[in-house]
Amino acid sequence: MTRYSTTQDVIDQYDRYVMNTYVRSPLVVTKGKGSRVWDVEGREYLDLFPGWGVSGLGYSHPWVLGAIRGQASRVIHVSNNYYHPLQWRAAKKLVEVSFDGKVFFSNSGAEAVETAIKLARRWGKGRYEIIVMERSFHGRTLAALSATGQPKHQQGFEPLVPGFVCVPFNDLDAIRGALTPKTCAVLIEPIQGEGGVRVASPEFLRGVRRLCDDHRLLLIADEIQTGMGRTGAWFAYQPSGIQPDLLLLAKTLGGGFPIGAVVAKRAVADVLTPGTHATTYGGNPLGCACILAVFEAMEKQRLLERVTQLSGHLFARLEALAQRVPLIREVRGRGFMVGIELTGDGRPIVEACRAKRLLINCTQGTVLRLLPAMTITRAQLDRALSILESVFSVDSVNSVNSVGSVRPTRRT
Ligand SMILES: Cc1ncc(COP(=O)(O)O)c(C=O)c1O
Repeated sequence: MTRYSTTQDVIDQYDRYVMNTYVRSPLVVTKGKGSRVWDVEGREYLDLFPGWGVSGLGYSHPWVLGAIRGQASRVIHVSNNYYHPLQWRAAKKLVEVSFDGKVFFSNSGAEAVETAIKLARRWGKGRYEIIVMERSFHGRTLAALSATGQPKHQQGFEPLVPGFVCVPFNDLDAIRGALTPKTCAVLIEPIQGEGGVRVASPEFLRGVRRLCDDHRLLLIADEIQTGMGRTGAWFAYQPSGIQPDLLLLAKTLGGGFPIGAVVAKRAVADVLTPGTHATTYGGNPLGCACILAVFEAMEKQRLLERVTQLSGHLFARLEALAQRVPLIREVRGRGFMVGIELTGDGRPIVEACRAKRLLINCTQGTVLRLLPAMTITRAQLDRALSILESVFSVDSVNSVNSVGSVRPTRRT
């Protein structure tokens, strides 16, 4: 096998063989453990955005690795025209921490969104319109993209799937005004991730729930990014005291293994009957073993409590930083889902952090996004915050702004 030993070698081979659909930083990751990754040249980085939110337990969590090894030696894939012992157990765990219902397993977040759209349409019996939010993000497959409230992602892919009505986020009157006799559902991220870490107010969520009840609409919570403990609760809708009818999950759910899920209230779930929906890999034994390992880790390592405790410290330090740094307009989020809105371009800050071996993300051009692993140690979190603080020191900000102006980051 050919070995590529430098960052540039690997980037060159990507340029030659891999479709250029992603904005990539010049970092070739060869190993990950907890909140740390190593590049092909052996440099170590601290990752506050591990796996785009997928590695919520950190990279290579030992229990997830154990589950993969153990299950792979028994059977990796069993088709869905048979049963295996793990799918119902993974589904039961999900129902126990959310609401009484049934689960459909997918392979990704977008597929969970597609499933929800199909479920809502079938449940609507002729009603097919779904109200979605501005700046939302629901994935890149065509219907999920059509549901996404960001025209920049949709350009060039028209005609979009019809039936989505987009309204401002956190605006109950706008939803009320968008209702028609054809409306069947409202789709919401309780905290918009890609849209800039924007938090739905509890009053808004409760109002949407009431509206859905009054008009016989399904409330669909896309918790693909917020779910499985990220915000300090199992799901971000929970502190508001409401329950959605459909809950969409992926990312942290599989601990790194690609798997998604839709939890649907029982009466809603039953509108999908044999032959109406399927995916070849969904709910395979390997994925379900990973879900069970994630649950075990969450419970035994008390990760919800950990997130709640450490996030107080995380937000306190970031808010103190915001007091000192005029470039920071606002710090927002919940638990381990943090947005730092800047008054200018955030990408030079991301680059400057990477130069100091700290990985973070920037979304919407001006919002730095942190999604630390729930297993991060306090010492690692403090080290990451110290790096971020140093990058925000006046000199650094000046120098990164000039770096940013000569080396603009590529966009998809
Ligand atoms: C809220 C939300 N929904 C849906 C998706 C799509 O998930 P996937 O990329 O697994 O298809 C994402 C991905 O970032 C997301 O954040």
